[in-house]
Amino acid sequence: MLIDTHSHIYSEDFNDDRDEVVQRAYSSGVKKIVLPNINSGTIKHMLDLSDTYPHLCFPLIGLHPTSVEEDYKEELQAVEYWLEKRKFYGIGEIGIDLYWDKKYKKEQKDAFRTQIKLAKEYNLPVVIHVRDSFSETYKIVKKEQDGTLRGVFHCFSGDEKEAQKVIKLGFYIGVGGLITFKNSNLDKVIEKVEVNHLLLETDSPYMAPEPKRGTRNESSYVVYVAQKLAEVYNIPLSEVAEITSGNANNLFGI
Ligand code: NI
Repeated sequence: MLIDTHSHIYSEDFNDDRDEVVQRAYSSGVKKIVLPNINSGTIKHMLDLSDTYPHLCFPLIGLHPTSVEEDYKEELQAVEYWLEKRKFYGIGEIGIDLYWDKKYKKEQKDAFRTQIKLAKEYNLPVVIHVRDSFSETYKIVKKEQDGTLRGVFHCFSGDEKEAQKVIKLGFYIGVGGLITFKNSNLDKVIEKVEVNHLLLETDSPYMAPEPKRGTRNESSYVVYVAQKLAEVYNIPLSEVAEITSGNANNLFGI
């Protein structure tokens, strides 16, 4: 069994064939899919999908850093509203993204801190998005880490030092399609980390792994990420599946 710990297959990119995508994942051995939210506009689509496949799709609630704008406080109110209303398996995705836009840096940090506090209050893990912002993100998590905070640095793309920092915080490292890209160097970084610190993910529809690179990503492709890890560690695919699925169960309680 494999678990895709990060997938946005509720997005409109899948409007034409969503059920087939889910079926394809299931028949490829992907028995659980974690759905991180983006903003108030995506919640309904995400919940529709998780209500259709309650044993397969597990929703998170949160405000994505690239959706943090002037109205972010209202957006955070929507997160709080839904947290009270129904069960979620984590807060995500949250974090800091300075690649697309630095305009709302201050607001992004504030939204990030606020959502970490919600995670603590509800005893939920956090799914963290980092883009051109490792030091800013790390600083906030380190300050907020009181021993109760747990989560994953999703789509990790850092170096060995950063990987060790993530592990020291007690967090998992999310590994996706990037590790299969030639010249990404991520395989060399991950090689130095033990499998029990890793989660598998796709980040569908983005970041399709080789040999599907450049196409729309989907949860069934997490198999290619697992295969690459089996190569990197020189262990059987079944062992990668067992350990990373155990990690995902442990973090999200799914
Ligand atoms: Ni994402």
